[in-house]
Amino acid sequence: MAEKRKSHLVSERVSELPHSIFARLANLVGKGVISLGPGEPDFATPKHICNAAKKALDEGYTHYPPTTGYPDLLEALGKKLKAKNGIRADDPQTQICVTCGSTESLLLSMFTAVDPTEAVLVPDPGYMAYGPMIEMVDAEPVTYELHDDDGFQIDTDAMKKRIKPKTVGIILNNPSNPTGTVLKRSVLEEIADIAVDNNLMIISDEAYEDFTFGGAEHTSIGSFNGMEDYVVTNFSFSKSYAMAGWRVGYAVGPSSFIETMSKDHLYTSIASPALSQRAAIAAVTGPHACVEGMAREYERRRDFMLKRLNEISCLEVKVKPEGAFYVFPRIHSFGKMNSEQFSLWLLKEAKVVTIPGSEFGQMGEGFLRLSYATDMKSIASAMDRLEKLLGKK
Ligand SMILES: Cc1ncc(COP(=O)(O)O)c(C=O)c1O
Repeated sequence: MAEKRKSHLVSERVSELPHSIFARLANLVGKGVISLGPGEPDFATPKHICNAAKKALDEGYTHYPPTTGYPDLLEALGKKLKAKNGIRADDPQTQICVTCGSTESLLLSMFTAVDPTEAVLVPDPGYMAYGPMIEMVDAEPVTYELHDDDGFQIDTDAMKKRIKPKTVGIILNNPSNPTGTVLKRSVLEEIADIAVDNNLMIISDEAYEDFTFGGAEHTSIGSFNGMEDYVVTNFSFSKSYAMAGWRVGYAVGPSSFIETMSKDHLYTSIASPALSQRAAIAAVTGPHACVEGMAREYERRRDFMLKRLNEISCLEVKVKPEGAFYVFPRIHSFGKMNSEQFSLWLLKEAKVVTIPGSEFGQMGEGFLRLSYATDMKSIASAMDRLEKLLGKK
């Protein structure tokens, strides 16, 4: 008889997944607290996108949509991918799968690319969902380390050393949550060579593609010649169009990959919500001044936050973030507190929510993630409070 597991209720696979500190912090947030925790835009979804959903409701878009997405949405995404990302999805109907946010497309990418016991390389520090997602497909996350001394760019020689016979994929996040790093084209070219030489699938998470600053350019590795069969790129409507609650994302890759992935998608959620998909068409085909406006406002907030952080004791930003909406300062000389204790102490003493770097992996220990997806007034007050508590440099 098979050995009994600890609980008859939940599988060990799931019970062993880590809890996120986000839920704990949410419970601690009380009156007078300023949160620099948000992982989603503070902006409302632009009006023309909301209006498209209202119209779709009146038109009766209340039935199951096609699994991979409405054909006109796939068509529009195919054009966007070519024009903006340089990714050629010549047959958008078979090369794109619209999902419930990029969270679903990332998980399904792993289901599709990875078998149990295989290994996938993940960034450390990196977005906290990658490790648990890989564990959910019974595979092993193997980290590649990112250092602020390297500007949090990927050291490709170190990455190569992490490849084992069982490694089948690499997760890239560009621009990065939590570091805000935009990966250099030259680094991406080296990673493309690694993938081809070792027959690895690249699962690229480009949820923050629209938020780059100071002239930094976002490059999609899926646009490189010869990479067509090695990359599945995951995009999101959540950040670019402030549509986090609508749950729309999509994956683009080789037809054979996406057609297989759409089976998983059918069994997982059937389709991304009909009204959200109709709204997504308005988002992708409509005016983009709103997206540019949000990007420039994030840039203004980033510059302000960096200026203030440079004046505050104990926190050091070695690497100017060039994308997403996060700053990832190093915590200096603060006794024996680890980043979680430090973050909870800031919450208690300064009433400012920050996310401990350890949430993003071992290499995140000693750092804090501060989000500027909140209004300027709150950012200014939060900086005043941190300065009062920690002192001036
Ligand atoms: C790097 C990264 N990827 C993916 C996601 C998931 O976004 P969504 O599922 O809303 O598309 C997030 C959300 O914060 C993120 O930060």
